Amino acid sequence: MKTIAEYSADVESALRSIEYPSGNLASLYAPIEYALYAGGKRIRPVLTLMGADAFGDDAEKAMKAALGIETFHNFTLLHDDVMDKSEMRRGRPTVHTRYDENSAILSGDTMLTLATKYVSEVEDDKLRKVLDTFNTMALRVYEGQRLDMDFENADHISLESYLEMIEGKTGSLLGAAVKIGAIIGGASEKDAELMYDYGVMTGLAFQIQDDWLDTFGDATTFGKPIGGDINNAKKTYLYVAAMAEGGQNVEALRSAYQIPAGEVRVKAVTRIFEKLGMNEKCRKAVGHYSAKALKALNATSLSEEKKETFKKLAEKLIGRRK
Ligand code: IPE
Ligand code: IPE
Ligand code: MG
Ligand code: MG
Ligand code: MG
Repeated sequence: MKTIAEYSADVESALRSIEYPSGNLASLYAPIEYALYAGGKRIRPVLTLMGADAFGDDAEKAMKAALGIETFHNFTLLHDDVMDKSEMRRGRPTVHTRYDENSAILSGDTMLTLATKYVSEVEDDKLRKVLDTFNTMALRVYEGQRLDMDFENADHISLESYLEMIEGKTGSLLGAAVKIGAIIGGASEKDAELMYDYGVMTGLAFQIQDDWLDTFGDATTFGKPIGGDINNAKKTYLYVAAMAEGGQNVEALRSAYQIPAGEVRVKAVTRIFEKLGMNEKCRKAVGHYSAKALKALNATSLSEEKKETFKKLAEKLIGRRK
């Protein structure tokens, strides 16, 4: 297998070789290029290539599907940034800020269809399984996003509900990314499912780390402003775990969230999270779900050497700062 950096470079150059129509349709396609060439980490398409390489010794065979996965991911971000009223991503204005909301909606729709089209370009004997995995995942993402929005107006969210939400919005995509690669590589049904579990669990750890970075990260490296989740009253891992502590903290948090969105609220909530040791709690939770990911990985029939690359990816994500 190649290194993660090599897979990532392969994705990058394949993405850049796609040509989009110009001329009077530039307004539809320019936001797509703007989003896709902004320096994302490419974790999901790398997982697809790794899945195909691990089970079939041929990463290139899954390249079109990998591009579909990355295009789908970026479609969700165009719409997510409208829903979350986020103005910055990857250190620059989001699509709806740089262009307008109509662009984010319609170029986003276009990306969804392009993504499905790319993913459908697999060999006929793999098509049904791949497309079924892709469509099932897409529904899970929308369900997770719906819960994420609904939870903004809820007061108490259980850890179980939180996990259901992030498994949908984030876990399912990482799971499907690697599973689709595995299917293309010819993995057995059992291995493909275990790789899906590896991806989902890695995704849970990834989203908890994202929640942590949104409060405790550095905006310059993270590429997104700090405190966005607090201002949107998002039910992040930090919020859910802090509320679960009970006692006086519950009231303290409730009143901090009564402060109008802005710097003062972000500071007040952050102070409570710090006091409650949420730094440590997040680290533990990230470790917990990464361990579950490795457990699924270890149950596959892959050789130790091949498992190693997947372990490295999970480790890299645990410590990520961007
Ligand atoms: C952002 O995903 C959305 C989440 C699931 C947190 P990434 O952090 O993978 O975004 P890019 O593509 O690398 O910018
Ligand atoms: C990411 O959730 C999930 C999807 C985009 C489907 P977030 O809302 O936490 O992602 P960021 O923080 O905007 O990247
Ligand atoms: Mg969101
Ligand atoms: Mg968001
Ligand atoms: Mg986030």
